[in-house]
Amino acid sequence: MANASLVIGNWKMNGNAALTRSMTAALREQQEPTANVKVVVCPPFTLLGELTRHCYYDNIAVGAQNVNAHNNGAHTGEISLAMLQELGVEYVIVGHSERRAMYAEDNAAIAAKVTAVTAAGLTAVLCVGEDKEQRNNDQTWSVIEQQLSAACNELSRQQASKLVVAYEPVWAIGTGETATPEQAQQVHSKIRGWLKQQFDAVGDETEILYGGSVKADNAAELFAQQDIDGGLIGGASLKEQDFVAIVQAAQ
Ligand code: G3H
Repeated sequence: MANASLVIGNWKMNGNAALTRSMTAALREQQEPTANVKVVVCPPFTLLGELTRHCYYDNIAVGAQNVNAHNNGAHTGEISLAMLQELGVEYVIVGHSERRAMYAEDNAAIAAKVTAVTAAGLTAVLCVGEDKEQRNNDQTWSVIEQQLSAACNELSRQQASKLVVAYEPVWAIGTGETATPEQAQQVHSKIRGWLKQQFDAVGDETEILYGGSVKADNAAELFAQQDIDGGLIGGASLKEQDFVAIVQAAQ
């Protein structure tokens, strides 16, 4: 029995206007407006406005894949929170491993973004996770604890109530190699413990998502784990049938 409450699709640098229409149509067809699973779709910036126009049910929301922590100013090529809010964005992915690895986002930059997003009242989806070498060296938890501490230590409880944590083992992203439900649950339960220690009751309520090669055929067993509250889905969020099946597995 799944206990998941949140499924987020991260389109990365993929998709087009046609996909915003076909994806929202597929979700609307399959999901009752009263369903207890919230679905968030995070397309590239250029599709946010188009997507918002198609998301008129409360349980489908729009998310961005990144933001700049500054309010405005000379930051060529960057997008601010106010710009996202104007487009109806409610969620922002922060610290994805691809941004950490390919765009040199360090813990300080990620902390600034988590702070800015949650202070503005949007939900920050903070990504954490170890790479293969770190897992093989038994450093999984120390890496994740460091990422959590660096990003969240300055958050108030009120800000923490606007935080979602996504555990994404780097070795499982886009590789087809998923963490087993037991491996994922083990890490999620430690994340839960850390959040409770840091934010008391708020930490009990924080949604902790698993991401990394979640597919229609493995979602249900992942979502059945006690501390897995949903998924952050990459590749499978680009295919209507697969994404809808993952959302259904969360019900
Ligand atoms: O943001 C999503 C994750 O990077 C997972 O991607 O489902 O393609 O492995 P994936």
